[in-house]
Amino acid sequence: MKRTVITYGTFDLLHTGHVRLLERARSLGDRLIVGLSTDEFNAIKGKISVQTYADRKAVLEAIQFVDLVIPETAWNQKEKDIIQYGVDLFVMGDDWKGKFDFLKDSCEVLYLPRTAGISTSDLKKRIDKQL
Ligand code: CTP
Repeated sequence: MKRTVITYGTFDLLHTGHVRLLERARSLGDRLIVGLSTDEFNAIKGKISVQTYADRKAVLEAIQFVDLVIPETAWNQKEKDIIQYGVDLFVMGDDWKGKFDFLKDSCEVLYLPRTAGISTSDLKKRIDKQL
């Protein structure tokens, strides 16, 4: 049986922290689905991305570890996605540790260590300083 892994996020200004997370997530199964926050859902979360959903999606689709990108439009869609896509494993970085333990009724849940010293917020600050 093929093992399906899913993860969620905004993935704006794709960086090595993202790539390492995606690589490790993909290595834990046979296909990786990314639930990519739409611009509207980011607004609900109080997040503004530099790149549009369409552009962030195109970048993610070019990553060898990503098999499918689906829109993340609401906090409560995860159980539905897990059933619809036959997900075996839900993965997030450990900044989310414990936040999605309620999904353990639906599939395995794993928090991977974040890569130190890089984030989209940090990149935005670095770019601002150079302008
Ligand atoms: N992530 C990671 N290591 C990093 C940054 C992010 O493993 N250094 C992981 C997060 O834990 C999450 C996924 O990548 O599972 C998507 O994170 P996202 O919030 O889109 O990226 P950040 O760089 O954390 O963005 P921001 O600074 O806007 O919070």
